[in-house]
Amino acid sequence: MIALLWVACTVVSPPVVDDSGVGGDLDRPGWCDTAVEVTWEDWGDGFMRTQCQGCHASQAEERYGAPPEVVFDTEADVIRWRARILVRTVDERTMPPAGGVDEVDLQLLETWLRCSY
Ligand code: HEC
Repeated sequence: MIALLWVACTVVSPPVVDDSGVGGDLDRPGWCDTAVEVTWEDWGDGFMRTQCQGCHASQAEERYGAPPEVVFDTEADVIRWRARILVRTVDERTMPPAGGVDEVDLQLLETWLRCSY
């Protein structure tokens, strides 16, 4: 079983960037060349679980009004929404609604979403 899972994981290819991203495409800024590498596996997945999935998981018990189409279960979901995520979480700081994301995490989020795809 464990071996099977391991094989299943190693054949998963990187997600295809969906050009129909919500809120438009993002250009990769020059500072990405010297930025730390931030990935879904080592940071993004955990961040989305902790800060966003309480309301934005497809199976969330209580969404507190989060729209049904705004779901961040997978890396592909997040890529599709990344322009809006940057606006709401990094620029406007209105997501999560109660705030509370620290500066380091805001920087990692921006680096992840702008530089890794
Ligand atoms: C307490 C529940 C809650 C949490 C936690 C939460 N959201 Fe939301 N989210 C909402 C609600 C309610 C809406 C719809 C109202 C609105 O847009 O303000 C929404 C809408 C959104 C939208 C779509 C609206 C738009 O402007 O495009 C995005 C993107 C979003 N949230 C991102 C996030 C991200 C990223 C996180 C985590 C960093 C997060 N949210 C955490 C409740 C939540």
